[in-house]
Amino acid sequence: MNTPKRYHPIQVTLHWLVVLLVIAAFVIGKSMSGQPNDAAKLTPLALHMAVGIITLLVIVYRFVMRLRLPKPEHVTAGNPFFDWVGKAVHYALYLLVFLMAVSGVSLSIQAGLAPIVFGGSGILPADFFDFTARMMHGFIAPALVLTVLLHVGAAFYHQFMLKDNLLSRMWYGK
Ligand code: HEM
Repeated sequence: MNTPKRYHPIQVTLHWLVVLLVIAAFVIGKSMSGQPNDAAKLTPLALHMAVGIITLLVIVYRFVMRLRLPKPEHVTAGNPFFDWVGKAVHYALYLLVFLMAVSGVSLSIQAGLAPIVFGGSGILPADFFDFTARMMHGFIAPALVLTVLLHVGAAFYHQFMLKDNLLSRMWYGK
């Protein structure tokens, strides 16, 4: 079978869907993290948890599809070390998004959030930082941001400095 020039349309769709979901989860998560745990927090929390759980399902499905679908050759930046970093960053992105969502689910379980947020019964715990999963969620967030910045920086370097039109591989076309 010939190696394709670009990613499969399913992978392209999943890639940009994950981008939107992670940005949404991140922005809602950051905006509510300094707020008191009162009734006003229930709606953003419900939204954040729903987006986070969808992200978990999509990232697992995406990884499975990555193993199954044909994909283009890994591009070279002309330097074996950078090529290795490029591959490592791709795996790190899958792992960190997965861990971010799993630590969120763990926090939800530790703090008994599902019935409070989605069932309207009970009140929120006074401080989420009483739960170890909240620490994990807070530590993984900046690691994910850093890895995303590396990934976007590398994509722009290819697109605008090496001018190899790398971005077209993650878009639809023949
Ligand atoms: C990839 C998916 C996710 C991303 C990118 C994300 C992002 C974030 C961010 C950036 C924060 C604030 C962290 C900080 O400032 O220290 C946060 C807080 C939080 N997240 Fe997530 N999250 C995700 C998934 C989830 C899931 C699946 C749940 C639960 C089912 C969840 C529950 C929470 C809770 C309860 C907080 C604490 C808010 C507070 O301290 O007031 N998150 N999240």
